[in-house]
Amino acid sequence: MSQGSWTTPDISPDIPNVARMYDYYLGGFHNFAVDRAAAERALAIYPGLRLVMQANRAFLRRTVRYLLDQGIDQFLDIGSGIPTAGNIHEVAQAGNPQATVVYVDADPVAVAHSQTRLSGQPRTVCVLADARQPEEMLQQPEMRQLLRFDRPLGVLALMLLHFVPDDALALHVVHTLRAALAPGSFLVLSHATGDQIPDDARTQMTKLYANTSHPIIARSSQQIAQFFDGLQLVPPGLVYLPMWRPEDPDDLLLDDPARSITLGGVAELRQRAAQP
Ligand SMILES: C[S@@+](CC[C@H](N)C(=O)[O-])C[C@H]1O[C@@H](n2cnc3c(N)ncnc32)[C@H](O)[C@@H]1O
Repeated sequence: MSQGSWTTPDISPDIPNVARMYDYYLGGFHNFAVDRAAAERALAIYPGLRLVMQANRAFLRRTVRYLLDQGIDQFLDIGSGIPTAGNIHEVAQAGNPQATVVYVDADPVAVAHSQTRLSGQPRTVCVLADARQPEEMLQQPEMRQLLRFDRPLGVLALMLLHFVPDDALALHVVHTLRAALAPGSFLVLSHATGDQIPDDARTQMTKLYANTSHPIIARSSQQIAQFFDGLQLVPPGLVYLPMWRPEDPDDLLLDDPARSITLGGVAELRQRAAQP
Protein backbone atom coordinates (compact mmCIF):
# COMPACT_ATOMS: atom_id res chain seq x y z
CA MET A 1 0.00 0.00 0.00
CA SER A 2 1.27 3.49 -0.75
CA GLN A 3 1.48 5.91 2.15
CA GLY A 4 -2.06 7.22 2.62
CA SER A 5 -3.87 9.56 5.00
CA TRP A 6 -3.28 7.11 7.88
CA THR A 7 0.52 7.43 7.66
CA THR A 8 2.53 10.11 9.39
CA PRO A 9 5.80 11.82 8.43
CA ASP A 10 7.64 10.47 11.49
CA ILE A 11 7.61 6.79 10.51
CA SER A 12 10.64 4.77 9.40
CA PRO A 13 9.35 2.98 6.28
CA ASP A 14 12.52 0.86 5.98
CA ILE A 15 12.21 -0.76 9.41
CA PRO A 16 9.53 -3.42 9.91
CA ASN A 17 7.14 -2.20 12.54
CA VAL A 18 5.46 -4.60 14.96
CA ALA A 19 2.10 -2.78 14.92
CA ARG A 20 1.95 -2.99 11.12
CA MET A 21 3.19 -6.61 11.10
CA TYR A 22 0.38 -7.46 13.51
CA ASP A 23 -2.05 -5.68 11.19
CA TYR A 24 -0.78 -7.85 8.33
CA TYR A 25 -1.12 -11.10 10.33
CA LEU A 26 -4.74 -10.13 11.01
CA GLY A 27 -5.46 -9.44 7.34
CA GLY A 28 -5.37 -5.62 7.57
CA PHE A 29 -4.11 -3.16 4.95
CA HIS A 30 -2.22 -0.63 7.07
CA ASN A 31 1.22 -2.05 6.42
CA PHE A 32 4.13 -1.55 4.04
CA ALA A 33 6.17 -3.98 1.94
CA VAL A 34 8.90 -4.07 4.58
CA ASP A 35 6.34 -5.09 7.25
CA ARG A 36 4.79 -7.76 5.03
CA ALA A 37 8.20 -9.22 4.16
CA ALA A 38 9.17 -9.49 7.84
CA ALA A 39 5.77 -10.93 8.75
CA GLU A 40 6.08 -13.55 6.00
CA ARG A 41 9.49 -14.55 7.40
CA ALA A 42 7.92 -14.92 10.84
CA LEU A 43 5.09 -17.01 9.36
CA ALA A 44 7.70 -19.29 7.79
CA ILE A 45 9.21 -19.82 11.26
CA TYR A 46 5.86 -20.38 13.01
CA PRO A 47 3.09 -20.99 10.44
CA GLY A 48 0.35 -20.82 13.08
CA LEU A 49 1.06 -17.15 13.82
CA ARG A 50 -2.12 -15.79 12.21
CA LEU A 51 -4.20 -18.09 14.43
CA VAL A 52 -2.23 -16.91 17.46
CA MET A 53 -3.16 -13.30 16.73
CA GLN A 54 -6.80 -14.21 16.11
CA ALA A 55 -6.88 -16.11 19.41
CA ASN A 56 -5.49 -12.98 21.09
CA ARG A 57 -8.25 -10.81 19.62
CA ALA A 58 -10.84 -13.36 20.79
CA PHE A 59 -9.28 -13.21 24.29
CA LEU A 60 -9.59 -9.42 24.16
CA ARG A 61 -13.32 -9.63 23.34
CA ARG A 62 -14.01 -12.18 26.08
CA THR A 63 -12.10 -10.24 28.73
CA VAL A 64 -13.78 -6.92 27.87
CA ARG A 65 -17.20 -8.57 28.17
CA TYR A 66 -16.11 -10.09 31.49
CA LEU A 67 -15.00 -6.68 32.78
CA LEU A 68 -18.31 -5.14 31.70
CA ASP A 69 -20.10 -7.86 33.69
CA GLN A 70 -18.03 -6.81 36.73
CA GLY A 71 -19.31 -3.24 36.34
CA ILE A 72 -16.21 -1.77 34.68
CA ASP A 73 -17.15 1.19 32.51
CA GLN A 74 -13.76 2.72 31.78
CA PHE A 75 -10.97 1.01 29.89
CA LEU A 76 -7.32 1.78 29.26
CA ASP A 77 -5.80 -0.24 26.40
CA ILE A 78 -2.00 0.04 26.31
CA GLY A 79 -0.23 -1.02 23.11
CA SER A 80 -3.60 -0.92 21.38
CA GLY A 81 -2.28 -1.31 17.84
CA ILE A 82 -3.87 -0.47 14.51
CA PRO A 83 -7.67 -0.68 14.72
CA THR A 84 -9.10 -3.94 13.41
CA ALA A 85 -12.37 -5.82 13.90
CA GLY A 86 -13.78 -5.91 17.44
CA ASN A 87 -11.88 -3.05 19.04
CA ILE A 88 -12.34 -2.47 22.74
CA HIS A 89 -14.62 0.57 22.39
CA GLU A 90 -16.87 -1.37 20.02
CA VAL A 91 -17.14 -4.36 22.37
CA ALA A 92 -17.43 -2.19 25.50
CA GLN A 93 -19.87 0.36 24.14
CA ALA A 94 -22.06 -2.40 22.67
CA GLY A 95 -22.50 -3.59 26.27
CA ASN A 96 -22.53 -0.15 27.89
CA PRO A 97 -22.91 2.88 25.59
CA GLN A 98 -21.56 5.10 28.41
CA ALA A 99 -18.24 3.20 28.60
CA THR A 100 -15.11 5.30 28.07
CA VAL A 101 -12.00 3.95 26.35
CA VAL A 102 -8.48 5.35 26.07
CA TYR A 103 -6.11 3.72 23.64
CA VAL A 104 -2.34 4.20 23.93
CA ASP A 105 0.30 3.18 21.44
CA ALA A 106 3.89 4.17 20.72
CA ASP A 107 3.49 3.72 16.97
CA PRO A 108 2.53 6.94 15.14
CA VAL A 109 0.73 4.99 12.38
CA ALA A 110 -1.42 3.08 14.87
CA VAL A 111 -2.26 6.33 16.67
CA ALA A 112 -2.94 8.35 13.48
CA HIS A 113 -5.22 5.67 12.12
CA SER A 114 -7.01 5.23 15.46
CA GLN A 115 -7.55 8.99 15.75
CA THR A 116 -9.06 9.10 12.26
CA ARG A 117 -11.38 6.21 13.10
CA LEU A 118 -12.37 7.76 16.43
CA SER A 119 -12.93 11.35 15.33
CA GLY A 120 -16.32 12.58 16.53
CA GLN A 121 -16.57 9.93 19.25
CA PRO A 122 -16.85 11.73 22.60
CA ARG A 123 -16.04 8.74 24.83
CA THR A 124 -12.96 7.30 23.13
CA VAL A 125 -9.50 8.71 22.39
CA CYS A 126 -6.12 7.41 21.30
CA VAL A 127 -2.90 8.94 22.58
CA LEU A 128 0.69 8.55 21.49
CA ALA A 129 2.84 7.48 24.43
CA ASP A 130 5.54 4.99 25.34
CA ALA A 131 4.57 2.43 27.98
CA ARG A 132 8.26 2.14 28.94
CA GLN A 133 7.83 5.57 30.55
CA PRO A 134 4.69 4.69 32.48
CA GLU A 135 4.65 7.72 34.81
CA GLU A 136 4.71 10.07 31.81
CA MET A 137 2.21 7.94 29.91
CA LEU A 138 -0.28 8.12 32.76
CA GLN A 139 -0.10 11.92 32.84
CA GLN A 140 -1.33 12.39 29.26
CA PRO A 141 -3.96 15.17 29.45
CA GLU A 142 -6.40 13.48 27.02
CA MET A 143 -6.25 10.34 29.16
CA ARG A 144 -6.81 12.27 32.37
CA GLN A 145 -9.77 14.11 30.83
CA LEU A 146 -11.58 10.88 30.01
CA LEU A 147 -10.59 8.41 32.74
CA ARG A 148 -11.10 8.78 36.49
CA PHE A 149 -8.32 7.03 38.34
CA ASP A 150 -10.21 7.26 41.64
CA ARG A 151 -12.77 4.81 40.21
CA PRO A 152 -12.25 1.18 39.05
CA LEU A 153 -10.65 0.87 35.66
CA GLY A 154 -10.02 -2.02 33.31
CA VAL A 155 -6.43 -1.91 32.09
CA LEU A 156 -5.47 -4.13 29.19
CA ALA A 157 -1.93 -4.64 27.93
CA LEU A 158 -2.31 -7.39 25.38
CA MET A 159 0.75 -8.65 23.54
CA LEU A 160 2.64 -5.60 24.79
CA LEU A 161 5.10 -6.67 27.49
CA HIS A 162 6.92 -9.16 25.27
CA PHE A 163 8.08 -6.01 23.45
CA VAL A 164 9.76 -4.85 26.67
CA PRO A 165 12.65 -7.34 26.88
CA ASP A 166 14.23 -5.78 29.97
CA ASP A 167 12.65 -7.77 32.83
CA ALA A 168 13.10 -5.05 35.43
CA LEU A 169 11.59 -2.42 33.16
CA ALA A 170 8.62 -4.64 32.26
CA LEU A 171 7.93 -5.19 35.97
CA HIS A 172 8.30 -1.48 36.64
CA VAL A 173 5.69 -0.74 33.94
CA VAL A 174 3.20 -3.15 35.53
CA HIS A 175 3.89 -2.00 39.09
CA THR A 176 3.48 1.65 38.11
CA LEU A 177 0.13 0.84 36.50
CA ARG A 178 -0.97 -1.17 39.52
CA ALA A 179 -0.10 1.69 41.86
CA ALA A 180 -2.20 4.10 39.80
CA LEU A 181 -5.37 2.00 39.99
CA ALA A 182 -8.24 2.26 42.45
CA PRO A 183 -9.45 -0.88 44.27
CA GLY A 184 -11.92 -2.82 42.14
CA SER A 185 -9.82 -2.25 39.00
CA PHE A 186 -8.74 -5.11 36.76
CA LEU A 187 -5.46 -5.84 35.01
CA VAL A 188 -5.56 -7.94 31.83
CA LEU A 189 -2.35 -9.19 30.24
CA SER A 190 -1.45 -11.45 27.35
CA HIS A 191 2.17 -12.36 26.67
CA ALA A 192 4.02 -14.71 24.31
CA THR A 193 5.60 -17.62 26.10
CA GLY A 194 8.55 -19.68 24.99
CA ASP A 195 7.42 -22.71 27.00
CA GLN A 196 6.07 -24.62 24.01
CA ILE A 197 8.17 -23.21 21.15
CA PRO A 198 11.09 -25.33 19.95
CA ASP A 199 14.40 -23.62 20.85
CA ASP A 200 15.34 -23.24 17.22
CA ALA A 201 12.11 -21.44 16.27
CA ARG A 202 12.36 -19.20 19.34
CA THR A 203 15.92 -18.20 18.47
CA GLN A 204 14.98 -17.46 14.86
CA MET A 205 11.95 -15.41 15.90
CA THR A 206 13.98 -13.43 18.44
CA LYS A 207 16.58 -12.65 15.75
CA LEU A 208 13.92 -11.60 13.26
CA TYR A 209 12.20 -9.23 15.70
CA ALA A 210 15.58 -7.80 16.74
CA ASN A 211 15.56 -6.06 13.35
CA THR A 212 12.08 -4.57 13.74
CA SER A 213 10.82 -1.52 15.63
CA HIS A 214 10.55 -3.62 18.81
CA PRO A 215 12.71 -6.61 19.81
CA ILE A 216 10.67 -9.43 21.33
CA ILE A 217 11.13 -11.77 24.29
CA ALA A 218 9.05 -14.90 24.90
CA ARG A 219 9.01 -15.28 28.69
CA SER A 220 8.38 -18.45 30.68
CA SER A 221 5.05 -18.94 32.43
CA GLN A 222 6.78 -18.30 35.79
CA GLN A 223 8.15 -14.98 34.54
CA ILE A 224 4.76 -13.92 33.19
CA ALA A 225 3.08 -14.92 36.46
CA GLN A 226 5.36 -12.43 38.24
CA PHE A 227 3.44 -9.54 36.67
CA PHE A 228 0.43 -10.68 38.73
CA ASP A 229 2.37 -11.32 41.96
CA GLY A 230 0.29 -10.43 45.00
CA LEU A 231 -2.93 -10.11 42.99
CA GLN A 232 -5.94 -12.38 42.91
CA LEU A 233 -6.17 -13.97 39.46
CA VAL A 234 -9.70 -14.52 38.24
CA PRO A 235 -10.34 -18.23 37.49
CA PRO A 236 -9.04 -20.03 35.46
CA GLY A 237 -5.84 -18.08 36.21
CA LEU A 238 -2.94 -17.60 33.83
CA VAL A 239 -3.61 -19.96 30.93
CA TYR A 240 -3.13 -20.34 27.19
CA LEU A 241 -5.46 -17.79 25.60
CA PRO A 242 -8.12 -20.20 24.25
CA MET A 243 -8.55 -21.69 27.75
CA TRP A 244 -9.55 -18.38 29.33
CA ARG A 245 -13.33 -18.72 29.71
CA PRO A 246 -14.05 -20.09 26.23
CA GLU A 247 -17.53 -19.42 24.94
CA ASP A 248 -17.97 -22.31 22.56
CA PRO A 249 -16.45 -25.80 22.18
CA ASP A 250 -15.46 -24.77 18.65
CA ASP A 251 -13.49 -21.70 19.78
CA LEU A 252 -10.27 -21.14 17.87
CA LEU A 253 -7.38 -23.38 19.07
CA LEU A 254 -9.39 -24.69 22.00
CA ASP A 255 -8.59 -28.19 20.76
CA ASP A 256 -4.84 -27.44 21.13
CA PRO A 257 -4.47 -24.30 23.31
CA ALA A 258 -0.66 -24.48 23.57
CA ARG A 259 -0.50 -23.65 19.85
CA SER A 260 -1.51 -20.11 20.83
CA ILE A 261 2.01 -19.80 22.39
CA THR A 262 0.54 -16.95 24.44
CA LEU A 263 -0.62 -16.83 28.05
CA GLY A 264 -3.38 -14.59 29.30
CA GLY A 265 -4.77 -13.69 32.67
CA VAL A 266 -7.07 -11.25 34.44
CA ALA A 267 -6.56 -10.05 37.99
CA GLU A 268 -8.64 -7.88 40.26
CA LEU A 269 -6.92 -5.28 42.41
CA ARG A 270 -8.49 -5.49 45.84
CA GLN A 271 -6.46 -2.65 47.34
CA ARG A 272 -4.33 0.19 46.09
CA ALA A 273 -0.74 -1.00 45.45
CA ALA A 274 2.28 0.85 46.80
CA GLN A 275 4.29 3.07 44.47
CA PRO A 276 7.17 1.05 42.92
C1 LIG B 1 1.11 -7.12 18.78
S1 LIG B 1 0.41 -5.53 18.84
C2 LIG B 1 -0.95 -5.82 19.96
C3 LIG B 1 -2.14 -4.92 19.69
C4 LIG B 1 -3.31 -5.13 20.66
N1 LIG B 1 -2.89 -4.89 22.04
C5 LIG B 1 -3.87 -6.51 20.57
O1 LIG B 1 -3.56 -7.32 21.46
O2 LIG B 1 -4.59 -6.81 19.64
C6 LIG B 1 1.57 -4.71 19.94
C7 LIG B 1 1.35 -3.22 19.99
O3 LIG B 1 2.14 -2.71 21.06
C8 LIG B 1 2.67 -1.47 20.66
N2 LIG B 1 3.85 -1.19 21.48
C9 LIG B 1 5.03 -1.87 21.51
N3 LIG B 1 5.85 -1.30 22.42
C10 LIG B 1 5.17 -0.27 22.97
C11 LIG B 1 5.48 0.68 23.97
N4 LIG B 1 6.68 0.70 24.58
N5 LIG B 1 4.55 1.61 24.30
C12 LIG B 1 3.34 1.60 23.70
N6 LIG B 1 2.98 0.74 22.74
C13 LIG B 1 3.89 -0.20 22.38
C14 LIG B 1 3.01 -1.67 19.19
O4 LIG B 1 3.14 -0.43 18.50
C15 LIG B 1 1.80 -2.48 18.74
O5 LIG B 1 0.78 -1.65 18.27
